[in-house]
Amino acid sequence: MNSIDRYAVIGHGLGHSRSPQIHSLFAQSTGQSMQYGLIDVPTAGFAAAVHDFFAGGGRGLNVTVPHKETGLALAARLTPRARRAGAVNTLAAGTDANADAIALLGDNTDGAGLVRDLTVNLGYALTGARLLLLGAGGAARGVIAPLLQSGVAELQIQNRNPARARQLAQEFADLGPISDGSASGGAFDLIINATSASLRGEVPAVPAQACGPRTLCYDLAYGAGETAFTRWARAAGAAGTLTGLGMLVEQAAESFLLWRGVRPDTAPVLAALAPSASP
Ligand code: ATR
Repeated sequence: MNSIDRYAVIGHGLGHSRSPQIHSLFAQSTGQSMQYGLIDVPTAGFAAAVHDFFAGGGRGLNVTVPHKETGLALAARLTPRARRAGAVNTLAAGTDANADAIALLGDNTDGAGLVRDLTVNLGYALTGARLLLLGAGGAARGVIAPLLQSGVAELQIQNRNPARARQLAQEFADLGPISDGSASGGAFDLIINATSASLRGEVPAVPAQACGPRTLCYDLAYGAGETAFTRWARAAGAAGTLTGLGMLVEQAAESFLLWRGVRPDTAPVLAALAPSASP
């Protein structure tokens, strides 16, 4: 049997994933002995793959597109932020000594990772900002509550399927000023792309007036340099564009903390992963 603690990211279309590199840098810097791999599986095989991983002694999974909402149902226990999000990006093996079945703990570190990247790494003030969030899937779910709790003035959700945006606006209405895309009102301070469109080189439909010369555009997706969305934003005259590498590192650090009980320093990892020529 494996004696080294095993972790992995589980998703579909993972060719681009930087998570193994990030977690191995965290393990080195914190002196933890662990292994971190990739499990690429379509929706139909997701539950069985999770079961097999933990039954084989695996300790934790990062859950990514398109499994974040499905992953919720596999967790026996949820952290409050995962329950609130209705999606998980982290699963941890339970420690219940007397359980025959594997009791998984589900967490969602996406929102904490995004808010930390924006406010700590980039020094961006969310308080009082007008935000447009594109997308209404698992990635969007994870970030809504922490954004609202950061004191934004407005959070508008737009989605290709508007009924899903309406549903999310209703679900999170108790936490702050959230609306669906039927509202309008000029340029936003921050546009966050939480759709999976960038993974296929596509750009979600955004009203032209939403992006102005003071608008920062942040794509939760990341790639080698620009994404389709950040290219669009640059052409639309945005004040700045960012991809999700910073959020990826910060959400990974939160997952690492849950699994290993120690929070790695993210600054050296961010520096190691930064594209060498960031325009
Ligand atoms: P994730 O976990 O990454 O959020 P998901 O739950 O499959 O994955 O959600 C994908 C999101 O991206 C959805 O909001 C989806 O829009 P629909 O609800 O209308 O399906 C959005 N999306 C995916 N491809 C898109 C595209 N080409 N243009 C606009 N939105 C897109």
